[in-house]
Amino acid sequence: MAKIAVIYYSATGTVHKIAEQIAKGAEDAGAEVRFRRVPELAPAEAIASNEGWQQHVTEVNPHVQEATIDDLDWADGFAIGSPTRFGLPTSQLKQFLDTTGGLWAEGKLVGKLATAFTSASTAHGGLESTVLAISNTFYHWGALILPPGYSTPELYAAGTPYGITQHTGDLTEGTTAAANAQGKRLAEYAAKLAGAPVSA
Ligand SMILES: Cc1cc2nc3c(=O)[nH]c(=O)nc-3n(C[C@H](O)[C@H](O)[C@H](O)COP(=O)(O)O)c2cc1C
Repeated sequence: MAKIAVIYYSATGTVHKIAEQIAKGAEDAGAEVRFRRVPELAPAEAIASNEGWQQHVTEVNPHVQEATIDDLDWADGFAIGSPTRFGLPTSQLKQFLDTTGGLWAEGKLVGKLATAFTSASTAHGGLESTVLAISNTFYHWGALILPPGYSTPELYAAGTPYGITQHTGDLTEGTTAAANAQGKRLAEYAAKLAGAPVSA
């Protein structure tokens, strides 16, 4: 059974919804899944200035365990997501990624599967640059990047070969199917790799 960590930041819930569907796809494929959010770092007054952000922080975040670097150490594969902020991942996600230096130094992330996902409010407002920016970290970890590509009918239809993406708000049927498909692929390939360790 593959061990999959789905780790994300979400302010107003869209990335949270993608994360849920990736986790569902992985679970349906038989994986053990840790579903985790990174800590919220924004000041209370900034959160309170946005009704959707405040609602997510108050009503959803308390039900999701915070990520730790042990989740990365434990997992055979990860899906890591963040909303787009000026074409980049959020500082909240970056702060979490920047705590992985110890695992990196020990080589503990080498050879694990990794895939990224995001959301933005506009069609060409930095979705792909955000996915690629998250993936830069995967290169440094020596992780094996598993992009959606056009590898299944659902992922072909979604047309998000770099990583699952969705506009702000509720997920479309297409994004839901694509996120499920990518979670399933992540679980299946992680199980294959876990069953066939590479000699050093
Ligand atoms: C400071 C800030 C910067 C943003 N930058 C972008 C951007 O570059 N392009 C874009 O399309 N949307 C941008 N957005 C919108 C968010 O990426 C978008 O609403 C996203 O769906 C939020 O995801 P969430 O609901 O998971 O928090 C920005 C939002 C904020 C608050």
